[in-house]
Amino acid sequence: MANATIIDGKAIAAKLSRKIAKKIDRLQDSCNLTPNLAVVLVGEDPASQIYVRNKNKQVEEVGMTSSQHDLPADIGEEELLILIRGLNKDPNVHGILVQLPLPVHIDTNKVIGAVNPAKDVDGFHVLNAGALMTGQTDALVPCTPLGCLMLIKEHIKDLGGSKAVVVGRSNIVGKPMAQLLLRENCTVTMAHSRTRELADECRQADILVGAVGRPELIRGDWIKPGATVIDVGINRIQAADGKKLVGDVAFDEALAVAGAITPVPGGVGPMTIACMLSNTLKAACQQNDVDVPEL
Ligand code: GUN
Repeated sequence: MANATIIDGKAIAAKLSRKIAKKIDRLQDSCNLTPNLAVVLVGEDPASQIYVRNKNKQVEEVGMTSSQHDLPADIGEEELLILIRGLNKDPNVHGILVQLPLPVHIDTNKVIGAVNPAKDVDGFHVLNAGALMTGQTDALVPCTPLGCLMLIKEHIKDLGGSKAVVVGRSNIVGKPMAQLLLRENCTVTMAHSRTRELADECRQADILVGAVGRPELIRGDWIKPGATVIDVGINRIQAADGKKLVGDVAFDEALAVAGAITPVPGGVGPMTIACMLSNTLKAACQQNDVDVPEL
């Protein structure tokens, strides 16, 4: 029996995007400022191409501008760094997003470290990661965990004292997610694929975030009745009726136990893009000494 509320990430992201569009309209009127995002795509990874296309479409929909820099998969690291240094210097570029993953011959950390932290709309630079860890609220925060937190807050008004378990320890999602939940006064456990008694850990969670990249790893009986479950996983699997997308949580099983759950697709994914738009707006305001609008 399905009990859980399905958290409609698509609708919540659309609402956030509409707010961003209004703020951009005002920014153009009051300061003649249009936030501008540079997107760098190296190679032809089909998933990355889809992400980037979706991002560009939504950038336009909210009234921002963007430039796209498509580079061949065999581009040298130095050539990529030269492009980034140019974007760093360009006052008309407010946000820089280098689509990951990068080809293996390129040092991803070096590339992330080359982006001006003020333009780092992914929030991946060590200065932004450090700022999040030390509670500096003006820093740019990674988009996926930021979106997850917004979805959690739609369902739980006061997170203080809640027990949160984050399954997954990536720099992009797991680690910043744990920091954001800690900032909201949750008691946070960071679990991962090597955690002993992972199911027991998950069963303690009032808030359970799956960000481990293993299809349907988290089963229904791992979930505390009434818990809020956020599924960051996007796993393509071969099912009897063809290929399909599944999350890190066994959705149908979880539906009977959880209090609320995000679907895959249509949960976390749309929030990531909306938060990237929000970060670009924030970066543009900060670089032009304009107050960052409340969203
Ligand atoms: N690849 C998958 N997710 C992301 C993301 O949030 N940002 C970037 N830059 N690349 C990604």
